[in-house]
Amino acid sequence: MENLIKIIKDQFKLGLNGDHGLKHWQHVEKIGNYLASHTGADGQIISLFAYLHDSKREDEYDDPEHGKRSANFAKELHDKKLLSISKKQLDQLIFSCEFHSQPNTKSNDVTIQTCWDADRLDLVRLGITPKNEFLFTEKAKKKEAILFAIELNKSYPQQIS
Ligand SMILES: [Fe+2]
Repeated sequence: MENLIKIIKDQFKLGLNGDHGLKHWQHVEKIGNYLASHTGADGQIISLFAYLHDSKREDEYDDPEHGKRSANFAKELHDKKLLSISKKQLDQLIFSCEFHSQPNTKSNDVTIQTCWDADRLDLVRLGITPKNEFLFTEKAKKKEAILFAIELNKSYPQQIS
């Protein structure tokens, strides 16, 4: 995973210390793992989603195509044999990356739902509390999940080298 994270970081066009940078990716992984202990989501896909989903952003604000680009990047990495995942896992990763920022997006797959909830719960880093209607899993809708995300943002070092 470390090699892969380096490849992802090296190609990232925005600042790694920015709102959609490394700290956010690490938070999404942690929140995703926290949720997964209740939802039963696939931890490998959570980690890959966390580090990939915003990795092709070219704008911190308006970038509607970044999900699609990250899905293509995931395919590319898989073609280069850099992701050791099954076909089913690849499909989950591609779908979760491609549609994570689309409005009215839906999935019945608990791993994909958990990825999206983890991303959304980390909105607390921007001072935004996600509304329950935009969350999928019951665990993410619990107050303790928001508190977990807030705590993570409080305790995290401000600068990343
Ligand atoms: Fe994100």
